[in-house]
Amino acid sequence: MVYLDNAATSWPKPEAVYRAVAECVKEYGANPGRSGHRMAMRAGEIIMECRENLARLFGIPDPLRIVFTSNGTEAINLALKGLLAPGDHVLLSGMEHNAVARPLKKLESAGVELSIVKTDPEGKADGADIAVKARPNTKLLVVTHASNVTGTVNDMDFLGRLAREHNIAFMVDAAQTAGNTPIDVGGMHIDLLAFPGHKGLLGPQGTGCLYVGEGITLDTLKEGGTGSLSESLDQPDFLPDRYESGTLNTPGIAGLNEGIKFILETGIGSIREHEKQLVRYMLEGLKEINKVKVYGSGDLEQRTGVISIAIDQKDCHEVCAELDEKYGVAVRGGLHCACLAHETLGTLRTGTIRFSIGYFNTIEDINKALAAVRAIAGA
Ligand SMILES: Cc1ncc(COP(=O)(O)O)c(C=O)c1O
Repeated sequence: MVYLDNAATSWPKPEAVYRAVAECVKEYGANPGRSGHRMAMRAGEIIMECRENLARLFGIPDPLRIVFTSNGTEAINLALKGLLAPGDHVLLSGMEHNAVARPLKKLESAGVELSIVKTDPEGKADGADIAVKARPNTKLLVVTHASNVTGTVNDMDFLGRLAREHNIAFMVDAAQTAGNTPIDVGGMHIDLLAFPGHKGLLGPQGTGCLYVGEGITLDTLKEGGTGSLSESLDQPDFLPDRYESGTLNTPGIAGLNEGIKFILETGIGSIREHEKQLVRYMLEGLKEINKVKVYGSGDLEQRTGVISIAIDQKDCHEVCAELDEKYGVAVRGGLHCACLAHETLGTLRTGTIRFSIGYFNTIEDINKALAAVRAIAGA
């Protein structure tokens, strides 16, 4: 199988990830931060090591401000529902995933005001429109670092600076960039960074994180046991315990830790360069095929490994089924949980066929995918 569905979840993972998950479950899978015995201590240490490695990767000064969640969606929900109250105004880009758009829609029904920031035809948020739409009660600008539909990358330095100038908190959904694109929370003025562990970070499913910047206090989404201050009925007010009630996914986090170590050792620059080479090769190949329309930017610096296409008038689900069954190419078709983005792009009715490249893909994979597209397009 040629796996080109890394935007949904990355596969394969580095061997060390599989080993770490199995080792944790089998050898020391005790409850971290609860008991004082050696197995529980080891579980706690691996979780701290993972926080520290994440902090290194994203330039986070205090690893304790990284909160583990079960996926990107939970991290986003914690940030949005924890921060916003009726009467607050939020600016969101027109390329947001449902993980952002749906919680905001629910908050809107409770009295939070929303404005969608214009995008250019490739899906980049328009800074000038942010300045126009900012109001005195604007509390948050939330933007996807890169679209999961087109791969278009937003300019985080610019948007972060803009948010800072307007005294608006800046939240980034890094689901499509964490692990494949440089992120620096300080340089980009990011107050809230939400990301899954199972995509570019190469960890197992069931992992995600929210970085909560200094000066940001969120309401909790859940309360319960934290292993700390057990004598009190009040939720601890220090991080990460305030937001991490209940037993953590220690095996998943042990695996995620190895994914991050792999990225730190390989170098984010090398990962980005490898994916960029494959994207360039695939875009050049697609250009040669009549009847194929490619969405997103032609500038490789402004896109990730996501390539969305349409083939003539063909139904995207049928094409994806054929790619899988006849050619052994795994991709995703449809709306990719991002109806807002498709509305912005004008593809809400048709959807797109999405190829998403990861670090373990090769030129041979891309050749197989191109041959399959050529055959399906009848070119
Ligand atoms: C841009 C974007 N945001 C958020 C999410 C949600 O991540 P998760 O599936 O880990 O909840 C995804 C997942 O595809 C995504 O692509």
